[in-house]
Amino acid sequence: MATRYKLTVTLAAVALSTIFFASCATNPVEKPQPLRLNQITEADRAPALPEYQGKTPGKQEKIARSFEQQPPLIPHKIEGYRIDLKKNRCLECHDRPFYKEENAPKIGGSHYKDRDGKELTHISMARYNCNECHAPQTDAQPLVTNTFQPAK
Ligand code: HEC
Ligand code: HEC
Repeated sequence: MATRYKLTVTLAAVALSTIFFASCATNPVEKPQPLRLNQITEADRAPALPEYQGKTPGKQEKIARSFEQQPPLIPHKIEGYRIDLKKNRCLECHDRPFYKEENAPKIGGSHYKDRDGKELTHISMARYNCNECHAPQTDAQPLVTNTFQPAK
């Protein structure tokens, strides 16, 4: 009894491996594509730097918003505009004391409230890092088709 069982298992194994190798021969397995797009033995290639659109502030149209409460996109270039502990170049044009003179859109009232909704005399620190929400633009094409329609 035990011998017959062993024989059946062996025959099944032979049959399965024949099917497996036969299918390998007809469908050659494609070389796996690593996520970094080049082989592990090759040096990494840095992606090309995107070219940002827009010129010096004051020369472009605002970009239409797609939904309510969207942080507006930045239409101008921001190269070299520092945001650090000592200096925030964005505030020098968009903050209350300067926006008129600079002819820049005024920062919204929401940025001058703390998280409990209390009015502040200065911009809330939660809004200090402007680029966290407002992004400059490149002409990057969407990676996947997008059928998003703004709410009417
Ligand atoms: C030299 C002044 C100046 C500086 C510095 C500046 N901006 Fe602007 N910003 C403008 C002006 C002027 C506009 C109006 C559009 C234009 O003419 O480019 C604008 C437009 C914008 C808008 C669009 C607002 C809307 O309602 O659509 C955003 C967002 C913005 N800026 C964010 C920033 C951020 C973030 C920084 C810092 C990284 C910054 N800006 C630095 C002057 C400035
Ligand atoms: C946490 C996200 C966030 C950060 C950080 C932030 N913003 Fe905004 N911003 C928004 C949103 C959302 C809106 C649109 C709704 C509103 O006005 O609150 C907006 C609106 C604006 C507007 C248009 C206001 C209007 O009334 O049309 C300007 C200009 C602006 N932000 C500039 C800035 C600047 C400059 C900084 C940095 C000092 C900054 N924001 C930081 C989210 C942010």
